[in-house]
Amino acid sequence: MNGTVSASGKAILLGEHAVVYGRPALAIPLPQLRAVADFRQTRQALTVYAADLSHRPWQWKSDAAASPDPLVRMTALTLAHLGICAPTGEIKIRSAIPIASGLGSGAAVSAALGRGIAALCRATLANDALNVLVYEVEKLHHGRPSGIDNATVVYEQPVCFQRGQPRRAVKPTRRLDFLLADSGVPALTRESVAAVHQLLRKEPARANSLFDRIADGVVAAQARLASGDERRLGELMTANHEHLRELGVSSPLLDALVSAALQAGASGAKLSGGGRGGHIIALVEPATASAVKKALQSAGAIRVLAASLGG
Ligand code: MEV
Repeated sequence: MNGTVSASGKAILLGEHAVVYGRPALAIPLPQLRAVADFRQTRQALTVYAADLSHRPWQWKSDAAASPDPLVRMTALTLAHLGICAPTGEIKIRSAIPIASGLGSGAAVSAALGRGIAALCRATLANDALNVLVYEVEKLHHGRPSGIDNATVVYEQPVCFQRGQPRRAVKPTRRLDFLLADSGVPALTRESVAAVHQLLRKEPARANSLFDRIADGVVAAQARLASGDERRLGELMTANHEHLRELGVSSPLLDALVSAALQAGASGAKLSGGGRGGHIIALVEPATASAVKKALQSAGAIRVLAASLGG
């Protein structure tokens, strides 16, 4: 049995980092950016290839279960969940999602791999179960993940996410267009999450006040999504960037990309994801999109992608 399964990337509209500490955040899937698992039945022990991730091919052995390698851990968790001890076949992981760039590459690769293993084993793996498994592997990527990345890529729906609460679907009244600009600087989410944790330990009042201001912005943004007020939504995104800057997770290049987008007419712009590198996200109107894209390229973006929500 051969086939292909996949999972999308994601972008955070507002609320990253504060979401780790129980505040709400808004995220959208990026269906055009996918991690893919091609699976093929063979008689050999399960072998996983992931050259796109600079990962050497490896063959499943049951003693690999405790490995700190995310692909091995995802395989072990999925097989344990499905109750399969001697899987056969091969899976090739391909991913168009840049690694360590804030677009959910780790979660998408885990989700695609989990779906590939289930398909190879002719087993059913429901999204609710997959979400839990991917969250476990996210701990290796993020240290203390909120769960927003796995929830967004597994269910592939725009979401207002808050730890411990049911997921709330996000439905804007009109289509919104975004540009995602890649700074070209890889940055590990684990490190920025750890830096924010340090700040919280050293200056709890300041960090919590920033988290609360971010949360207020997320709540206001949800209302603007519902009322279709793009200008105000953009302002809330830009204010969120300032809060993230104060949390210490921006960088001069990310700040320059945000300024370039705003000067070229974007309604709002901010870093997206862990920060310190990776992507910024800009809210644009069709009339300004091409000027904003050019400005982002001139300010140093190595790639600019379009994404949309609703409509
Ligand atoms: C990463 O996409 C978002 C962070 O808030 C970490 C997390 O929520 O797990 C930085």
